[in-house]
Formats: sequence, C-alpha cells, structure tokens
Amino acid sequence: MAALAIVALTGFLPGLLLPGLLELPPAAPLHLILALGVMPLILGAMTYFIPVLTRTGTPEAKTFFPPLAALGAGILAVFSLSLAYRLYPLAAALALAAIGGLLWWSRNRARATLGRPHPGLLWYQLALAALALGLAAITLAAFWPEQWLPLKRLHLHLNLLGFVGLTALGTLRVLLPTVGGFPDPQAGPWLMREWRWILAGTLLIAAGAAWAPPLAEAGLLLWLIPLARLAHSLLWPHREKIWRRHGAATPLAAAIIGLLLSLLAGPLHGHGLLPGAQATQAFVMAFLLPLVTGAATHLLPLWLLPKESREKQQALRERLGRHSGIRSILFLSAGVLALLAQTWASLLSIIALTHFLFQFACGALESPNP
Ligand code: HEM
Ligand code: HEM
Repeated sequence: MAALAIVALTGFLPGLLLPGLLELPPAAPLHLILALGVMPLILGAMTYFIPVLTRTGTPEAKTFFPPLAALGAGILAVFSLSLAYRLYPLAAALALAAIGGLLWWSRNRARATLGRPHPGLLWYQLALAALALGLAAITLAAFWPEQWLPLKRLHLHLNLLGFVGLTALGTLRVLLPTVGGFPDPQAGPWLMREWRWILAGTLLIAAGAAWAPPLAEAGLLLWLIPLARLAHSLLWPHREKIWRRHGAATPLAAAIIGLLLSLLAGPLHGHGLLPGAQATQAFVMAFLLPLVTGAATHLLPLWLLPKESREKQQALRERLGRHSGIRSILFLSAGVLALLAQTWASLLSIIALTHFLFQFACGALESPNP
C-alpha cells in the first residue's frame, strides 16, 4: 500500500511538469496521474479498507493482485497513449479484470460479515462499477469511431465523478472525523442515504455530457444535495477542529471544496465558455492533490510503520502534516487559476506537492524502519 501511495504521489510531479516540457498528447501525462497513479492507489486503499468495513480480518496475499494488475494497466495505458495508441483497449481490458477480481472479493467479504457490512462498502462497489463502465465506454469507442467523442466524455465523467468521487466521499465521511478527533453520529445515516443522489447525478452528468447537455445540469443539481448536507453536518459544525495550520484534516476538507469548485465549473465548460482541459486541471489540482496528500498524511504512517509504536507513527504523521494549511491554500488557488486559464497555475501545485514530498523524505529518513 505504501509503495502504491508513493508511486501515485511521485507520479503527480511528472504528470504536472511534463505538459510544459514535452510535446506529448495531453491524455498521456494526465493518465500518468489518473490511470497509473490514482487508479491502483484507490484499488489498493479499497483492499485495506474493505476488511475494516466488513470486520473480516486482514486481507490474504492474493488480494494484492487487483491493485498490481491495475498498476500494470496504468503503465500500459500511459505507454499506449504516448506511443502506441492502438494498444489502449488492452490496458482497459487488464484494468477491467482487476476490477472484476476486487468486486468478487468484496462480495465474498460482504457475505462473511457478521451482521450488515458498513454502508461505506456499497460506495466502493458502486465506484468500481462506475470505473468499469467508464473503461467499457472508452474500449467501445475504439471500435465505434462515430461515437468516439460522446463515449470519451462518458468515460471521463464516469471515472472522475463516479469512480474517484464516490470513493473519495465514501472515505472522507469516515476519515475526516477520525483525523479531526471528533465524533460524527451523522456519518452512517449520510452514507446510507446520499449515494443515490451521487450515483444518479454522475449518470446524468456523464450521459448528458455525451449526448444531451441539459441532463448534465440536472445531474449537477443532484450532486449538490449531498455536498450541501456534508457541509452542513460536518464541515461547518466542526470547523475549529478541521481548519488548522497543520495536520491531515485541513487538506481533506480542502479537497471537498476543490470538488465543489470543479463541479460548479461544469456548466462553464458544458456551454463551451471554458475548455474541458482546464476543468480537468482544476479537478487534479484543487481536489485530487489535497485529497491524496491529506489521506497519505494520516495513512502512510500506518502503512509504512505498522509495527512501530503509536508515538513513532504520530511523529511521522506530524511531519507529513506540517504546513498543510498553506499547502491547501496553494492547491485551491492553483485550481481557481487553472479555471481562469493561467498557465502558471500548475506551478503553485508543484511547489505544494514538492513540499509534501520533501517532508515525506525527511520523515522517512528519521523513521527507524521505513
Ligand atoms: C486502463 C485505464 C484507462 C485507459 C486505457 C484510458 C483510456 C483513455 C483514452 C483512450 C482516452 C482518450 C484520449 C484522447 O482523447 O486521445 C481517455 C481520456 C480520458 N481519460 Fe482515460 N483511460 C483509463 C483510465 C482513466 C482513469 C482511471 C481516469 C480517471 C480517474 C481517466 C480519465 C480520463 C480523462 C479525464 C480523459 C479526457 C482527457 C482529455 O480530454 O484530454 N482515464 N482515456
Ligand atoms: C468535475 C469535474 C469535471 C471535469 C474534470 C470535466 C471535464 C470535461 C472535459 C475534459 C470535457 C471535454 C471532453 C471533450 O469534448 O473532449 C467535458 C465535456 C462536457 N462536460 Fe464536463 N467535466 C466535469 C464536470 C462536469 C459537470 C458537473 C457538468 C454538468 C454541467 C459537465 C458537463 C459537460 C458537458 C455538457 C460537456 C460537453 C461539452 C460540449 O458539448 O462541448 N461536466 N467535461
């Protein structure tokens, strides 16, 4: 898990730097971040969280095949989008096999649960289903050139909002109170209710962007319902424990703001007032980067130092979370600037990410057994 997190975090840097340095098709560096970095990381994180959600004990060794197959698929996807375009359906097929394996395993774990599994499990299963649908769409596009653009739009909205969005919110609702150190009795009921809005919203946005733009705006309205309830029940009441200069809570909450920003910018690119590529950049900088650095601040010490004392884990956590408030401001500003078409927007996110990686390198050197 720690290795996947480090691959993803370091993959972000070339993903942000390469578009300015090399003449590559834009989808290649983007998939370095999304397919090679984020996709295996999320599948790996699911193999870590699903046993917790189902209360069924540590994962067996074979469970690591799906994240590793997803990593292989990510490498193949980046290679094919850079150099051998025709190969990308193979990458999609490998990723689909990984998703199938993980879904099957999660179903078995759900059956083995005593009582009912935690509602977060359903969020992960729906997220995997959205990714599978998104990959099926882009594979179909290779054989149906007349529908290439709509199917690509289906792929990207399903993956960004369905796969990443559902996983992120399903995890954040539980992780943010843990990290912030406060009880959240609303988490269970929110998780049990709100997936319907997000699922319906994502399907409408994806199908709308592909074939009928007004549907996408209806989908956006559905998405805003759970986000407004999340802000009302979590971000606002616990603001003093969340918005701090250091620690994991601030970037995690900043990620929710970044997601909201990317969603609200949807109608702008939907009506052609702003290129879609800017929306994607804003999504990466204002949402994904604070999300992954925030989650890594809390989880990397557990994954890297599983046998060490709580104090040692906490020392690494404090190191990783140092100045996370300023980093969060930089990530969110980079997202806003990307939407305003400022080419130097990525510079801010590169500075913040480099700072995080530097803290990590120092922390790893200080830790006895990284
Ligand atoms: C094996 C995995 C994947 C494969 C084979 C794949 C393949 C592709 C292909 C062929 C395109 C069209 C590129 C072009 O316009 O020339 C594309 C676009 C895109 N994909 Fe993926 N993809 C994968 C995973 C993902 C994941 C996991 C995400 C997000 C989490 C994602 C997000 C996107 C986005 C945002 C675009 C639009 C890029 C643009 O407009 O330039 N993809 N993908
Ligand atoms: C959350 C982040 C989002 C990202 C990163 C994103 C990204 C993109 C991209 C890259 C494209 C262009 C694909 C292409 O034509 O090559 C696109 C198209 C589109 N998106 Fe989004 N999108 C997001 C959310 C939304 C939302 C919330 C809506 C709802 C209004 C929306 C509606 C549309 C529509 C209608 C199109 C087609 C535009 C056209 O016909 O030219 N998107 N999106």
